[in-house]
Amino acid sequence: MSESWVNSAERIGTDLHLELSGPGGRRAALIRALRDAVRSGRLAPGTRLPPYRSLAADLGVARNTVADAYAELVAEGWLTARQGSGTRVAMGIPPTPFRQWGSAVPPRHAGNTPGRTPPRARGPRHDLRQGTPDVSGFPRADWLASYRRAVQQAPNEVFGPGDPAGRIELREALAEYLARARGVRCDPGRIVICSGFAHALRLLFEGRVLRGPLAVEAYGLPFHRELLTGAGVRTVPLPLDEHGARVDRLSRERGVLLTPAHQFPTGGPLHASRRAAVIDWARARGAVIVEDDYDGEFRYDRKPVGAVQGLDPERVIFIGSVSKSLSPAVRLGWMVLPEEYVEGVLAAKGEREAWASLLDQLCLADFLTRGSYDRHVRRMRQRYRGRRDRLVAALAERAPHIEVTGVAAGLHAVLRLPPGTEAATVARAEQLGVALDGLAAFRHPEAVERAVPAHDGLVVGYAAPSEHAYTAALDALCATFPDP
Ligand SMILES: Cc1ncc(COP(=O)(O)O)c(C=O)c1O
Repeated sequence: MSESWVNSAERIGTDLHLELSGPGGRRAALIRALRDAVRSGRLAPGTRLPPYRSLAADLGVARNTVADAYAELVAEGWLTARQGSGTRVAMGIPPTPFRQWGSAVPPRHAGNTPGRTPPRARGPRHDLRQGTPDVSGFPRADWLASYRRAVQQAPNEVFGPGDPAGRIELREALAEYLARARGVRCDPGRIVICSGFAHALRLLFEGRVLRGPLAVEAYGLPFHRELLTGAGVRTVPLPLDEHGARVDRLSRERGVLLTPAHQFPTGGPLHASRRAAVIDWARARGAVIVEDDYDGEFRYDRKPVGAVQGLDPERVIFIGSVSKSLSPAVRLGWMVLPEEYVEGVLAAKGEREAWASLLDQLCLADFLTRGSYDRHVRRMRQRYRGRRDRLVAALAERAPHIEVTGVAAGLHAVLRLPPGTEAATVARAEQLGVALDGLAAFRHPEAVERAVPAHDGLVVGYAAPSEHAYTAALDALCATFPDP
């Protein structure tokens, strides 16, 4: 006999999983199962057991069988029975360590695979890689307060399947915020919530809402290019100069992917004349501009750069996320769409929200409408500006021959290097325990055959190290550059 039961003993509010198996009939099996549950700690001292009648009903045994089993265990000292407080697990029985009952196999992770070195517990000594905000700055208290309010005030329907467009509360809050802070022209009906920029790209290209070929900046995030290639989209590199992407090189592509507020990774904004030119190109060709506004909030000492989308909302798909402003762990983003793409994107998302938690969406809506998002961004902007200033000052003092660029905004800078010296400099940094990337890591694979000029440089993220580790990271970085 071997039967598994899940007893949802609603009257006492506990679920009890018991397996009645082995020799000696049901009474003996129940005694063994309860003893094991207490011994292993699954039933903690003091836990109230279900009344005879409900456990008997759940297990499909006679009420007396349960009563006898409880009585036996009370006699043995495993349980206590007291008038008015029911039958409970006796106090003071220490659970036997799990290993005696569990498997002796250690948990599986990559490091357990034979022939592979276990992953190092610690990262590099000095982490100056771009891509991560200062995770210690996550506004835990305000986020929790918003989450609590969101869950308390949520209508019941929130706990059911969600609309693929996203919660209206969040779309309304974003419409207001994006218009105010980023110069985006939109109404909530044009916003579709997603789980971040990469998800938006998938919806657009894997969902066949847009097709290639797609022009992209010759330096960009390889992960995004690979995602596009995986979706069968050919990407064509556009050269960059001091005014940003050379949009005059656009020709027969169906669209262009740009980071106009802060070119990733080289760092400058797209020049005003180029913004106008790329809109003209898109209108003339019926093409679309995909605007990646990944860190548009973080600008330090130049005038705010509004979204290109504001110039023509019917030609630009504007995409943002909280990955840089709050945390990449939250996985929330938004797309502001021209009318012609709304239906296609919603169809690509499916019938119900399958990506972005509705509760998180309500939390972010609350966070935005209460001003917590603005406060957080202002606080982080100050912190990052301080970091940026220390980086610039350290290099000016100890490596004055190194030109620092792309520092007016964002969470990283680019240190220009003499042609042909990048690979050796990255290697030297690594020897000194400094993790960072050279610009070559971001270069489009077809850049050479398309005669896109190469730029040598280091991409230095200044957000990731904790406050106390930053000075040492700067020291190690400065030591990377030998005197000229
Ligand atoms: C260039 C660029 N675009 C977009 C993003 C945001 O990506 P996601 O929203 O998928 O986390 C990042 C990283 O945060 C980025 O570096």
